Amino acid sequence: MEVPHPSLEVEAAALDADDPLASYRDAFVGADTPLVYFDGNSLGRPPRASAERLSRFVTDEWGGRLIRGWDEAWMELPFAIGDRIGALALGAASGQTVIGDSTTVLLYKLLRAALDAQSAADPERVEIVVGRDDFPTDRYLVEGIAAERGARVVWIDVDPTRGVDADLLRDAVGPRTAVVLLSHVSYRSGYLADAPALTAIAHEAGALVLWDVCHSAGSVPMELDAWGADLAVGCTYKYLNGGPGSPAFAYVAARHQRRLTQPVQGWMGAADVFSMGPRYEPADGMRRFLSGTPPVLAMIAMQDTLDLLEEAGIADVRRKSIALTEFALRVADGILVPLGVRLASPRDPGERGGHVTLSHPAMRAVTARLWDDDVIPDYRDPHGLRIGLSPLSTSFTETLAGMRAVAAAVRAEI
Ligand SMILES: Cc1ncc(COP(=O)(O)O)c(C=O)c1O
Repeated sequence: MEVPHPSLEVEAAALDADDPLASYRDAFVGADTPLVYFDGNSLGRPPRASAERLSRFVTDEWGGRLIRGWDEAWMELPFAIGDRIGALALGAASGQTVIGDSTTVLLYKLLRAALDAQSAADPERVEIVVGRDDFPTDRYLVEGIAAERGARVVWIDVDPTRGVDADLLRDAVGPRTAVVLLSHVSYRSGYLADAPALTAIAHEAGALVLWDVCHSAGSVPMELDAWGADLAVGCTYKYLNGGPGSPAFAYVAARHQRRLTQPVQGWMGAADVFSMGPRYEPADGMRRFLSGTPPVLAMIAMQDTLDLLEEAGIADVRRKSIALTEFALRVADGILVPLGVRLASPRDPGERGGHVTLSHPAMRAVTARLWDDDVIPDYRDPHGLRIGLSPLSTSFTETLAGMRAVAAAVRAEI
C-alpha cells in the first residue's frame, strides 16, 4: 500500500500558485487535458501560436509569394533564427549560429571539419575523444569519421548515472587530441557537464571541443562565447518545441569560421549561391556550414517558443526547471524509493539538467503501462524511466500526478 502523502498535493498547488512562469502552460496545445507529458525533452508540446503561424505561412508566404519568398525572406531565415537562438539560449553573439540539417548531419559536418583542420595544422593530432555513454548518433559518427579519415577514437568510460567530468577528460586528452565531442546534458542521466571547465581542459591540450547541447538548449542557460567554446550543435524539437524533425542549429565561434571547411559541399554553402560557378568556393561566415536548400517549413514553429523564451528569460526558465526536478525528486523519495526505485541522475541540482532518470528493473513494462494511461515519460536502457520536465509547459501539479501514476504502475508490475 502506498503511504498517502496528501501534503504533496498541497505543496504542488502552492508551487504552481507561486510560479511566475505558470501562465506559459496555457500557450501550449494539450496542456489543458489530463494527459501527463514527461517527454518534452524528446519532443516538446506544440505552442498554440504555431498552428496559426504555420497556416499563415502556407497561405500568405508560400502560397502568396511563391518562389519570390526565397529572396524576400527565406534565404536569411536560417541565420535570423540561428541568431535568435544564439542570443536567447546559447550566449552567442550574432553571426555564429545557423539552422541547418538534422543534429546528426550537423554533428558530422562540424566534427569532420574540426578533425580535418586540426590534423592539417598538426599531423600528430588524429584522436577524437568521446564518452562511451554519449547519445548513439554521437558515438556512431565518431566511429564513422575515424574510419573515413584514419583517425583514432579515445573512449571515456563513464558512470551511466553521471557523465564526463573534469578528471575523466583530463585523463583522455593530450598532444594527439584533435577534437573532443561532449554532451552538455547527458541524454541518459541528465548530468550537467561543467562546460567552461571542460572546454578549458580541452584547450590546454590543444584540442577543439564540439558540444552536443540537445538536452540543454532552451532549458539550461549557456554562455558559449564566454566559455570560449569552439563548436556546438543542438536539437530544436525538444525544449524549443520546433516540431517533429525540426532542423538543428550549429554554432561555430567566429574565430574558427574561416579555418573550418565542412565536407558536404553543396551550392547553398557556396560563396555566391546563384553564380552556379564551375567550382565550389565556401562562403564566408556561417553560410559555409549549409549544404542544400534549408527546410524552411520545418523551422517556422520554433519561433513561437523563441518568442516565449524572450519574454520569460532563460534564467527564469532554468530556475523553474530546477524547482520542477527538485520537486520530482522529493516526490520520488516519498513514494517511489520505498518501492525499490532508485535515482539514476545527479542529486545536486547544479549537476543536473532538465530531466531525471529513475531506475527499476520493471521500468520497461512500467513505461508501456503509463503510455496506455496517457502518462508519457520515456524509457532508456538499462531500466531507466526518464522524466523530462519542460519548464514552460509543465506544472507542479502535472508533475505530481505523473509521479503518482509511476508509483501505481511500479506497484502493479512488482
Ligand atoms: C543528445 C542527442 N544527440 C543527438 C541526437 C540526434 O538528433 P537527430 O536525430 O535529430 O539527428 C539526439 C536525438 O534525440 C540527442 O538526444
